Amino acid sequence: MTAQIINGKAVAEITLSETKSLIDNRLASGLRAPTLAVILVGADPASAIYVRNKKLACEKTGVRSISYDLPATITEADLLSLISQLNDDDEVDGILVQSPLPAHIEEKKVIETISAAKDVDGFHPYNIGRLAVRQPTLRSCTPFGVIKLLQSTGIKVLGMDAVVIGVSNHVGRPMALELLLAGCTVTSCHRHTKDLRANVERADIVVAAAGKAGLIKGEWIKPGAIVIDIGITRLDDGTICGDVEFAVAKERAGWITPVPGGVGPMTVATLMQNTLKALELRETASR
Ligand code: GUN
Repeated sequence: MTAQIINGKAVAEITLSETKSLIDNRLASGLRAPTLAVILVGADPASAIYVRNKKLACEKTGVRSISYDLPATITEADLLSLISQLNDDDEVDGILVQSPLPAHIEEKKVIETISAAKDVDGFHPYNIGRLAVRQPTLRSCTPFGVIKLLQSTGIKVLGMDAVVIGVSNHVGRPMALELLLAGCTVTSCHRHTKDLRANVERADIVVAAAGKAGLIKGEWIKPGAIVIDIGITRLDDGTICGDVEFAVAKERAGWITPVPGGVGPMTVATLMQNTLKALELRETASR
């Protein structure tokens, strides 16, 4: 069997154009565009690329973006004070602080300072909690993007055995909660998991989010399984590589995402949707 490729770029383009139409409709009826504050601290080259892609998506959809390019030497107090100012600014709907942050800034404090209503990354404990109690509000972009990719295949995932590899706060944990909400039987694997191979071998859906190139061997994939690769590692020779051994896995899987061009574009498209949603939720709350 050769897997069908899940084209994340194409699904993301559809999501972006749907968001653009919704924003165009707002403008046509005299309402304002959603506004995203994008904060980049320091000069990490990978972060600069991610942020550039997010701003391009803003341009494509009509989301207004305001950039804050801050030096790596900014104090934690100054960054938190900027976030508080943006929380209080009625014209700002979403606040995104690109991670990783310099070592002297505590990411947890930054995330918890962002108002949950403007947390378009879906990282705030309130928003993760909403997902955990089956009342999702602003949903973490990458996991929600994966759910939309699964939906794009037309396959009903209800009752399927899903195995998530990786338990990070931003990706692995909300991913497991999303799959649970979608009605899957979910297993989370991590560094203490006794037999990763055995878990992957029985999975109908494999979601790899460990950030370790080639961790998941292609021969472990159950024939016909859906394989979603969130991992993205730049190797010494410059090539970009996922967590899954793609060439072998694609000969066994039913569906598989490529890296790049799979999950990555969906993260950005979901961020645009979340920014519009944050504005709409605040408008509804103030009525
Ligand atoms: N760094 C890598 N991915 C992300 C993301 O989705 N959001 C933020 N804020 N930082 C990131």
